Amino acid sequence: MPPLRAIILGPPGAGKGTILSRLVKHYNGAISTVSSGDLLREEIKKNPSSSIATTVAQGKLVPDQLMANLIFRSFEQEKIFQRSWILDGFPRNASQASILDSTLPESLNMVIHLDVPFRVILERIEGRWIHQPSGRVYNLLYNPPKVPGKDDITGEDLIKRPDDTVEVFQKRLDTYSALLGDLSDYYKKRGIFHTILGETSDVTYPKLLNLVEGFLKK
Ligand code: AP5
Ligand code: MG
Repeated sequence: MPPLRAIILGPPGAGKGTILSRLVKHYNGAISTVSSGDLLREEIKKNPSSSIATTVAQGKLVPDQLMANLIFRSFEQEKIFQRSWILDGFPRNASQASILDSTLPESLNMVIHLDVPFRVILERIEGRWIHQPSGRVYNLLYNPPKVPGKDDITGEDLIKRPDDTVEVFQKRLDTYSALLGDLSDYYKKRGIFHTILGETSDVTYPKLLNLVEGFLKK
């Protein structure tokens, strides 16, 4: 099968992490994902007083090159470059997109735009809990943990993301909206841009699976 080299774009809380973890499970780990937000949360855990922590807590973007370095370090550590992968949360602006292009040994072959209405996202974000070490995402209404407050796999505590407050979340939505146009223009010209529209992950996930299956069968 041709290796998949994809990125997924979508507003905060759209369900990127949720549908990607279902996809990874479906392919039994044959597709890898790297989430920029998960990498930053790991860094913040190691150094809670860093400038990364302050920036993320404000809903702003960390510097482009710093983010790129974390992404590529993770690619190397996990030996991902030669495999099928989907990047979640990077690139987030045109400058990061050009860093990615100049660093990748081969071009991207799929850009997925997960388009979920902001109204829907705002309704459900309060219910989100995460298992920080793995990045696993739960929602009290949609996919609650088997034991309240505990991760299904490790039994460790779940936490609320500190940037999931109403004010910071709105700021993250604003940042996303301001940058989406540039980023989608950058990729639309290449004919690899796919929009997945839907209000819930039960609608968007089958569309993602369809897209990826179609690509891998080529
Ligand atoms: P990041 O962690 O990437 O956050 P984000 O883009 O804001 O996206 P989220 O992780 O919030 O949403 P998601 O789409 O993954 O949704 P999820 O699956 O959790 O980034 C955090 C911060 O890091 C940024 O603000 C920035 O500061 C910094 N950063 C990151 N990347 C950067 C970059 N490249 N450059 C610079 N800075 C960067 O789902 C959401 C909730 O909905 C969950 O509770 C889920 O269970 C629930 N849900 C899913 N489906 C359903 C459904 N069908 N019905 C009900 N609930 C559902
Ligand atoms: Mg996420």
